[in-house]
Amino acid sequence: MNTKILIIGACGQIGSELTLALRTIYGDSNVIASDIREGNDELMNSGPFEILDVTDKIALESIIRKYQIEEVYLMAAMLSATAEKFPEKAWQLNMNSLLSILDFAKDGLIKKIFWPSSIAVFGPTTPRENTPQQTVTEPTTVYGISKLAGERWCEYYFNNYDVDVRSIRYPGLISWKTNPGGGTTDYAVDIYHQAIQKGSYECFLSEGTILPMMYMDDAIKATIGIMQADKANIKERSSYNLAAISFAPEEVTAAIKKHIPEFTISYDPDFRQKIADSWPQSIDDAKARSDWGWKHEFDLASMTKAMLTNLKATIG
Ligand code: SER
Repeated sequence: MNTKILIIGACGQIGSELTLALRTIYGDSNVIASDIREGNDELMNSGPFEILDVTDKIALESIIRKYQIEEVYLMAAMLSATAEKFPEKAWQLNMNSLLSILDFAKDGLIKKIFWPSSIAVFGPTTPRENTPQQTVTEPTTVYGISKLAGERWCEYYFNNYDVDVRSIRYPGLISWKTNPGGGTTDYAVDIYHQAIQKGSYECFLSEGTILPMMYMDDAIKATIGIMQADKANIKERSSYNLAAISFAPEEVTAAIKKHIPEFTISYDPDFRQKIADSWPQSIDDAKARSDWGWKHEFDLASMTKAMLTNLKATIG
């Protein structure tokens, strides 16, 4: 497979693992990583890398032309908690980057786009359990507003210009290789680090806050799966609901205690509690499963085992 791929935001939580996975499939030299700053050694040494500020449309176009890019994974974004602090910057980064890429596809410069959406498109008026694919979307965060607007633009470019853009509404993503930055679901990564390093964790969300989550291996599988699916099978051109696990902080604590019995948790909720309270607790992803064959693998127990084993080997 000689497809030329560009990953924007390649050094982030998803990008760093996605880049390596795509390089294994498509060949190291066919997968161009780009980010505003350099990433870890494994990523930097595994193939081509370009420094890129995605809001610089001219620089973006010149990289696309230089490598004759056919597919773009646009992973650069400001997440929910940080976006509340910098609303204008978040809007600019999250929206302008998408519109630039959609325009390049409309003009025939690239053939296929992956763009991540989020459970943040939902809001307090959305049914919270088993949230359907099509439902009320009244987000109350800047991040959620940008993701919802982005979804509408994706569908618009598909309907009007036949732009092949594919998208997933990611739940909170849990990984051990690269930390998330600035999200509301970040506690579910940090808790594993602290369990190993300190044996205790102070959680910024309260007990009982159930959120949809997913282990990174499953998220990578979904991302590559939707991009490799036949075009005719992608029937949602806004974004697909995607689900794996749902849990509250005390449930992940219980799962960690099976490996580290002395581990303890305490609670000190901050502004992120309000964001979490506006999001669903569980997601109905039947459409993704039937349209393009999505299937998750990791549950809370197997994810916890994988997180603790890998983190012990790297930071412990
Ligand atoms: N994990 C993201 C966040 O918390 C949601 O997409 O912002």
